Amino acid sequence: MFVTAIVGQKGGTGKTTTSLCLAVSAARAGQAAVIIDLDPQANAANWKDRRTGENPAVIAAPVSRLKQTLETARTYGAEFVIIDTPGKSDSAAVEAARAAHLVLIPVRPQIFDLETLPGVRDLLRVAGDTPAYVILNGLHPQARKQAEDAKAMIEQTTGFKVCPFHLCHRGSYAEAPTTGSTPQELDPDGKAADEIDRLYKFITQHENM
Ligand SMILES: Nc1ncnc2c1ncn2[C@@H]1O[C@H](COP(=O)(O)OP(=O)(O)O)[C@@H](O)[C@H]1O
Ligand SMILES: [Mg+2]
Repeated sequence: MFVTAIVGQKGGTGKTTTSLCLAVSAARAGQAAVIIDLDPQANAANWKDRRTGENPAVIAAPVSRLKQTLETARTYGAEFVIIDTPGKSDSAAVEAARAAHLVLIPVRPQIFDLETLPGVRDLLRVAGDTPAYVILNGLHPQARKQAEDAKAMIEQTTGFKVCPFHLCHRGSYAEAPTTGSTPQELDPDGKAADEIDRLYKFITQHENM
């Protein structure tokens, strides 16, 4: 069972979007996928209510029950687990990172997001420095240089590694959850599906390490 925690110290950066998309990628690749939703806002759990089908499963749980919830997932044969966390909860971020093999930190290339990264760094240190990558989210689809500049700046100023694959700003990321879906389910050959697929494959490389 491979566990990925999606953390950050700010709302609206794309944590839930990334969680849903990666869990659906895993399910489509034949893995038994589970999202553990630690956010009291329960966006992922509500998304699940709008879908049919079992995979990915979504379990809403308080952070105090994370360990037991992971054990339940393991008992039921989960292979790919994503822990989605609230934007501003130190304990959820630390516990999720502690329980995970890999941590992903979605950020938009904006100062309000980027200036939260040193705080995330401190939390991950408390959690025992789980391997972590920043994922750039919401980039302009044509702005290749924006991605390169943001990547270089983050790596130089925060010490975080930046995932070589980013997610662009696309309407389908915001529209798909309305119907309990994800972009790759709505348009399997679309650009969003392609970038999510690259991200999923990047993660599975870590799974195999
Ligand atoms: N790449 C993207 N393109 C367009 N809209 C996005 C993208 N990523 C996230 N969003 C939208 O931004 C909002 C915040 O994203 P969300 O995943 O809920 O963030 P978080 O879970 O970090 O609070 C949502 O309305 C979501 O649909
Ligand atoms: Mg969220």
